[in-house]
Amino acid sequence: MQRVGFVGLGLMGAPMAENIARGGFPLTVFNRTASKARSLEALGAKVASSPKEVAAASQVVITMLADASAVEAVLTGADGLLAGGRPGMVLMDMSTVSPAQSRRIASEVAGHGWMTLDAPVFGSTGPAKEGTLGILVGGEKDVFEAHREILSKMGKHLYYFGPNGSGATAKLCFNLMVAAQVAGLAEAMALGAKSGLDLDLLGQAILASPVASTLVQRKVPLIVGRDFAAAFPLKHMHKDLGLMIDTGHELGVPLPVTGEVHELFTAAKACGHGDQDFAAVFLQLLQMAGLSTNPG
Ligand SMILES: NC(=O)c1ccc[n+]([C@@H]2O[C@H](COP(=O)([O-])OP(=O)(O)OC[C@H]3O[C@@H](n4cnc5c(N)ncnc54)[C@H](OP(=O)(O)O)[C@@H]3O)[C@@H](O)[C@H]2O)c1
Repeated sequence: MQRVGFVGLGLMGAPMAENIARGGFPLTVFNRTASKARSLEALGAKVASSPKEVAAASQVVITMLADASAVEAVLTGADGLLAGGRPGMVLMDMSTVSPAQSRRIASEVAGHGWMTLDAPVFGSTGPAKEGTLGILVGGEKDVFEAHREILSKMGKHLYYFGPNGSGATAKLCFNLMVAAQVAGLAEAMALGAKSGLDLDLLGQAILASPVASTLVQRKVPLIVGRDFAAAFPLKHMHKDLGLMIDTGHELGVPLPVTGEVHELFTAAKACGHGDQDFAAVFLQLLQMAGLSTNPG
């Protein structure tokens, strides 16, 4: 079995790494905040003291980090992955980054003789725990095929799109719809709130209607119950919206709805909702409508 390294044990990375450990792969992990590695240690993973040590112990290294600058930070430097690796290794970057950033990362590690798959995911912390994520892959097809088994420990739906950067592009297409749907739901609920409607009843009606996607089904109870503990932190959706806009500009694709949603998320993040679930964009809309964000 391939020796696997995992860097980035946040909300998503920790349960994904746990599924690799449970799948029987020899696993070495690292996280900047060391305390988040405890659950992995309990499952028999080796906890490294640097990304360099992870690379030295592994044949394949998975990164699940906040953004491209975090990926860059763990790749480079005296303690970075590249300092500990060898030609022939594979980097699977599962973080959400832009296609341009993904291609830049692939080209940087190719300079050290590594191969790269961009393999961002759809599905949040629930599917990450259950090992049922969707994984959107870009890179060499034979590298993807050779690592199917590892990916299958984390995801149930694997999609190969083409060269490096194409998995990252597919991920932005997904999140574009996710952000727009939740922004629409939040606006509808804010309008209902200001009109004095019973939001619980409005939520029930929405859930019985054709707009009740799985995503809307998950977010209605959070909005009605004002429970915004993060499954997907708003600051990360804000980052993704920026990546969509940049990619649209690069390709000459106007994204007018995404532009408006990005501005709304910029306001929500600036007003302190960045660490809450992205459905907390509802609280931002309440504030903008002159309503209290306190329940009741
Ligand atoms: N949450 C979701 O539902 C979801 C779904 C699909 C995709 N994603 C994407 O998956 C990625 C991870 O998301 P998450 O929800 O797991 O985020 P998270 O809980 O905020 O975790 C982020 C991880 O990145 C690390 N990190 C951040 N900056 C770093 C740096 N400069 N150097 C080293 N490590 C750094 C953090 O380390 P510390 O622990 O030390 O802070 C942590 O391990 C993001 O790209 C996100 O957009 C998330």
